[in-house]
Amino acid sequence: MAITYSFNFKSYIFPLLLVLLSTHSSATSTSITDRFTQCLNNRADPSFPLNGQLYTPDNSSFPSVLQAYIRNLRFNESTTPKPILIITALHPSHIQAAVVCAKTHRLLMKTRSGGHDYEGLSYVTNSNQPFFVVDMFNLRSINVSIEDETAWVQAGATLGEVYYRIAEKSNSHAFPAGVCPTVGVGGHISGGGYGNLMRKYGLTVDNVVDAQLIDVNGKLLNRKSMGEDLFWAITGGGGVSFGVVVAYKIKLVRVPTTVTVFNVQRTSEQNLSTIAHRWIQVADKLDNDLFLRMTFNVINNTNGEKTIRGLFPTLYLGNSTVLVSLLNKDFPELGVEISDCIEMSWIESVLFYTNFPIGTSTTALLSRTPQRLNPFKIKSDYVKKHYFQTGIRIHI
Ligand SMILES: Cc1cc2nc3c(=O)[nH]c(=O)nc-3n(C[C@H](O)[C@H](O)[C@H](O)COP(=O)(O)OP(=O)(O)OC[C@H]3O[C@@H](n4cnc5c(N)ncnc54)[C@H](O)[C@@H]3O)c2cc1C
Ligand SMILES: *[C@@H]1O[C@H](CO)[C@@H](O)[C@H](O)[C@H]1NC(C)=O
Ligand SMILES: *[C@@H]1O[C@H](CO)[C@@H](O)[C@H](O)[C@H]1NC(C)=O
Ligand SMILES: *[C@@H]1O[C@H](CO)[C@@H](O)[C@H](O)[C@H]1NC(C)=O
Ligand SMILES: *[C@@H]1O[C@H](CO)[C@@H](O)[C@H](O)[C@H]1NC(C)=O
Ligand SMILES: *[C@@H]1O[C@H](CO)[C@@H](O)[C@H](O)[C@H]1NC(C)=O
Ligand SMILES: *[C@@H]1O[C@H](CO)[C@@H](O)[C@H](O)[C@H]1NC(C)=O
Repeated sequence: MAITYSFNFKSYIFPLLLVLLSTHSSATSTSITDRFTQCLNNRADPSFPLNGQLYTPDNSSFPSVLQAYIRNLRFNESTTPKPILIITALHPSHIQAAVVCAKTHRLLMKTRSGGHDYEGLSYVTNSNQPFFVVDMFNLRSINVSIEDETAWVQAGATLGEVYYRIAEKSNSHAFPAGVCPTVGVGGHISGGGYGNLMRKYGLTVDNVVDAQLIDVNGKLLNRKSMGEDLFWAITGGGGVSFGVVVAYKIKLVRVPTTVTVFNVQRTSEQNLSTIAHRWIQVADKLDNDLFLRMTFNVINNTNGEKTIRGLFPTLYLGNSTVLVSLLNKDFPELGVEISDCIEMSWIESVLFYTNFPIGTSTTALLSRTPQRLNPFKIKSDYVKKHYFQTGIRIHI
């Protein structure tokens, strides 16, 4: 199964919640909030009260709760539309109440897990409609079973936490998902997911076996009760178009106890053009145990002149001896030597790929603070055929 998707064009609202009155003014939104809050408290399961989990803009903690998972600083402006309420759900019944009350009160609902949406769609709206956010960060339990080679992972967990909990129990299991450890499970898996194990194990969603979903009627469903079509949709089609994912059951994959990484760099002066051409020809034909990425940036050379640098971050599921002989055969232009290679465990390679210095404790993967935050604009895509038919030219 290979599911393609696009990060930026997911619809992100329940169709049934779309109907909104354009006449709401800020003067009436206070009473909307009051009536909505009352509905939430009435609906909530008395054993899991909601008070203590509701943040309105007049609450002094509101800015910090909102900002805690803003991962694109373009949407951390005073002019960025703000929700009328944030619900920091502690229990699935809180989400069920939110869905049902949102329908009753015709309010736009946003769901945020890790907050890495490129366009901030989990906490911003482009319309002028009042909206609220269900924040999933408290729902982040991870139960790994090495016996079954599976794990149940709640949507608010981060990829770094998933990787850490797997490695805590086994040094020969892994999960094929994204490279950024602070990305959330909820948005990542529902949208597809790819990472440096994809050549061997496919997309993240190729390794998902079950899910818990709260649908538009507030019903809690699993794969069996939701049916294969809906399960297919929430494993690549963009989850929030269909409901709120509470948890996914993932299938672990096997990795050797020793893997090899390197990150060689080549500038324009070091035959980057030739190497890049060759990469395009061989990257998809190399051994499936080998993931060899190519990225570019502009740097100043030692003479202070601008030049282009190619970076080749690589993960090989095997040792350095085999890796170097493989590259000498299939990609000699890159000129990789044993001294470029570092052997380590898979979990250490996760840190390496995120640019943590060698020797960083794996507990760094449990940190929810990103290494850096920027304002950014990104578009990702999947290439289905070689589009560099005539090759590429490297110049500034
Ligand atoms: C720095 C960075 C690095 C990245 N690296 C990779 C990578 O290596 N590989 C890769 O594949 N992708 C990568 N991505 C993209 C990332 O996988 C997507 O942006 C993903 O949607 C983020 O998920 P999230 O939970 O963190 O984001 P959120 O902003 O919380 O959510 C993203 C979308 O999913 C919806 N959603 C969130 N939680 C749920 C839920 N529980 N149920 C239903 N819908 C939900 C949101 O409403 C929103 O529409 C990266 C993004 C960034 C910013
Ligand atoms: C803010 O909201 C939280 C969660 O509902 C609540 O516990 C806290 O008392 C509120 N703080 C203020 C100052 O209103
Ligand atoms: C987001 O904006 C607020 C308010 O201007 C600011 O205090 C905060 O530092 C910003 N967050 C980041 C990560 O820059
Ligand atoms: C993990 O197990 C605990 C204890 O049984 C349970 O409370 C939690 O909901 C489980 N998490 C998931 C994601 O299944
Ligand atoms: C660049 O490539 C040419 C032809 O393959 C080779 O002769 C030359 O040694 C390479 N230069 C460097 C710096 O690698
Ligand atoms: C390169 O040099 C220019 C000035 O010559 C400087 O402005 C720029 O910041 C430098 N870029 C990098 C990446 O160091
Ligand atoms: C490297 O791996 C190969 C294949 O698994 C094995 O035959 C070889 O002994 C290993 N070499 C070292 C130095 O561990």
